[in-house]
Amino acid sequence: MDIQVVPIESDRLRTPPTTDYGFCQVFANRMFTQRYSPNRGWHDAQIKPYGPIELDPATSSLHYAQMIFEGLKAYRRPDGRINLFRPWENTRRFNQSARRMAMPAVDEEEHLAAICELIAIEADWVPRQSDASLYIRPTMIATDHTLGVRASATYLHFIIISPVGPYFAEGFNPVPVYITDQYVRAVAGGVGEAKTGGNYAASLYVGEEARRQGYSQVLWLDGLERRYVEEVGAMNICFVYQGRRIVTPPLTGTILPGVTRKSVLELGRHLGYEVAEERIDVHEMLDDIRHGRITEVFGCGTAAVIAPVGKFGFHGEEIIINNGQPGPVARDLFQTLVDIQYGRAADPFGWVYTIPTNGHK
Ligand SMILES: Cc1ncc(COP(=O)(O)O)c(C=O)c1O
Repeated sequence: MDIQVVPIESDRLRTPPTTDYGFCQVFANRMFTQRYSPNRGWHDAQIKPYGPIELDPATSSLHYAQMIFEGLKAYRRPDGRINLFRPWENTRRFNQSARRMAMPAVDEEEHLAAICELIAIEADWVPRQSDASLYIRPTMIATDHTLGVRASATYLHFIIISPVGPYFAEGFNPVPVYITDQYVRAVAGGVGEAKTGGNYAASLYVGEEARRQGYSQVLWLDGLERRYVEEVGAMNICFVYQGRRIVTPPLTGTILPGVTRKSVLELGRHLGYEVAEERIDVHEMLDDIRHGRITEVFGCGTAAVIAPVGKFGFHGEEIIINNGQPGPVARDLFQTLVDIQYGRAADPFGWVYTIPTNGHK
C-alpha cells in the first residue's frame, strides 16, 4: 500500500499540549483515510490534515450504525522511541468486528503500517509526561447514500490519534460501580463481542442513571437471565478470590474479547496466580464479597489498564470491596503491565512493538 502524504499548510499546524491532556480532547494534525468500493477494493490511502469529513445526510452508517472501531495506545519509552502494545490483537479484532457487521476486512499488515506511519509523522504528539500516552482510534463507517436497510457497498476507514493523560490522575483510585438487572448491553447471538457503536449507545441511558446516583461505571449482566456477570462499563471484569485466584467470565459471544483481559490472564498465570474463566452469578459474587472470599474486583481495558472497584450498588444496597482500597493483585498487575507497555521492564511475552522511525523524527 502506498500512502500519499498530503502536505499541511503551516498555519493549520497546532503544537501538541504538554500538560492537562484529559481524554481525547485534541487530535493530532493529521489523520489516515482510505476508501473502499467493490470494484477497486481499498484505495486512496492518505495521511492528510485532520478535519471534518463531509457526509451525505443519507449516509447509511448515520442511520443504521454500520460502523466499527478500535482503541489502542502508543507509549513513550525511556529511550524516546514509541511502543505499541499487542497491536496485532487490535487489528485482528478490527477485522472480526468488520465480519460481524458485514463490512470488508482491511489488510492487517497495511492497517498496522498505516498506524505506524501516522504516529511516526506525528511523533511529537506522543506525550513524554510519565503515564500519559497517545490514544489511537481506527474506525470504519459505511458510506453508501441510501436509506435501504442493507450492507453498504462503500466504506471509509480512518485513523485518528489523540494524547491522553494518566487515567488515574489522582492515584490508583477504586471506582464505584452500579449493577443493573433491568437493562442489558448485549444478548447471545447479537453484536456484543464486536466493537461497534450500537453497543455503546445502548449503554448510555443506564450510564447516566448510574452517574446521577454517584457511580462511575455500570456492571452488565447477561441478557437472558440477567444474573451472570459480563462486563463493567467499557472494560472486562476480574474477581480475585482469597488474594490468589483471578476469575473472569468466559467469552461466550456477548463480551468484548479485551486485549487487556487476555494479557491479565497470561500475566497472572506467569506471576503465579491461579487464573480461570468461569460464569459468575451476581448474587453469589456479592455474597462472596460480603464474606471476604472475594478480596478484590477490578476492571481491565486499554484506557485504565486496571481499574479497581471500590464498591457495588445493587437494589439500593452498597457492597464495599476491600474497605474501598485497591488490592495487591490489582496493583501488581497494573504496575507490571504499564512497565512493559512503556518499555521500562523486560517483555518476556513479545507483546511490545516499537514503531520504526522511517526517517521521521
Ligand atoms: C465493551 C468493552 N469491553 C472491554 C474492553 C476492553 O478491551 P481492551 O482491553 O482491548 O481495551 C473495551 C475496550 O476498551 C470495551 O469497549
